[in-house]
Amino acid sequence: MAGLRLDKLRKTFGAVEIIRGVELEIADGEFVVFVGPSGCGKSTLLRMIAGLEDISGGDLFIGGERCNDMEPRDRGIAMVFQSYALYPHLSVYDNMSFGLTLNRTPKAEIEMRVREAARILKLGQLLDRRPAQLSGGQRQRVAIGRAIVRKPRVFLFDEPLSNLDAALRMDMRMEIARLHKELGATMIYVTHDQVEAMTLADKIVVLEGGKVQQVGAPIELYKKPANRFVAGFIGSPKMNFFDVTVTDVASGMATVESAAVAPVSVAAGGLAVGKRAVLGVRPQALRREAMSDRDGTICGTVSLVERLGAETIVSLDTESGARALAAIPQDEIFETGSAVAFRFDPAQAHLFAA
Ligand SMILES: Nc1ncnc2c1ncn2[C@@H]1O[C@H](COP(=O)(O)OP(=O)(O)O)[C@@H](O)[C@H]1O
Ligand SMILES: [Mg+2]
Repeated sequence: MAGLRLDKLRKTFGAVEIIRGVELEIADGEFVVFVGPSGCGKSTLLRMIAGLEDISGGDLFIGGERCNDMEPRDRGIAMVFQSYALYPHLSVYDNMSFGLTLNRTPKAEIEMRVREAARILKLGQLLDRRPAQLSGGQRQRVAIGRAIVRKPRVFLFDEPLSNLDAALRMDMRMEIARLHKELGATMIYVTHDQVEAMTLADKIVVLEGGKVQQVGAPIELYKKPANRFVAGFIGSPKMNFFDVTVTDVASGMATVESAAVAPVSVAAGGLAVGKRAVLGVRPQALRREAMSDRDGTICGTVSLVERLGAETIVSLDTESGARALAAIPQDEIFETGSAVAFRFDPAQAHLFAA
């Protein structure tokens, strides 16, 4: 096992810079998730750590050792891909043992490691099967088993669950969390799914355009997003954003208003009167309000109601044209086309520079 340090890592493809100076410390045994939209550079960064892509600039340290020019096989890492990349003509056992056989690990040692991985992953009954005789979840387990038997210092996962259906994805997510607990190994996990990131990570790294937007514990990112991008990316449904103008500033609070939001005072630093800003309010922070003229109310017409059972999601078209989503924590009835006002606790609102 080992920690990692990424020091101003850069990657260019031709003239295009894809990874733009990533700085990151990963502690030994930590579960770190790289999350961000498709194309932001997650796989490229992971492949640079694995040694599958050259590093254009900066330094990579694994276990304190500079690894920029080290061969992939010498880095002590194992990678699990979205496409399981199993050998179709080999049994589960042989798929898992293949790498060990190649580097001449003694047979008895191979047997021991494969049995142990099979026990951890509950594959004991399936060792003689071919990949074609397995379900998607079982195949992904074999791919993970192949990584485990190598006893890597660092596990790298690139969207390993994206090919599975929703229910199986949730099961496998729990499996991977359990695996991390049992092995105590350093794991770096790439996903575009913020729910996976929130549930698995000790530490989330939000990437956008090849740059780190924020690093922190899941709940820290949810409660204190560093910028509008992180605010919009973490949390579901997405945070509502309203373009507002600052009309007053006093002792760390700013009063803001817009056509969509009645004047409200929220915590803010570094904003001046007359400046434009963006007010962020999570759908879960909105509640139905009887009086439409109170501070911070958002009025509009209900355009869509989604009753999910435990929760109701209401889409509101405000007069300013801005759309707001409210997540009501119960099965409450809203009429489409009716006028409704919502209100939020200003302490739960976020203010970002425009
Ligand atoms: N070999 C390559 N040559 C040129 N561009 C590449 C190459 N690999 C990836 N890219 C580009 O780098 C960007 C990031 O890709 P990738 O790391 O795969 O994103 P993600 O995994 O976050 O979806 C994309 O714009 C992609 O087109
Ligand atoms: Mg990718």
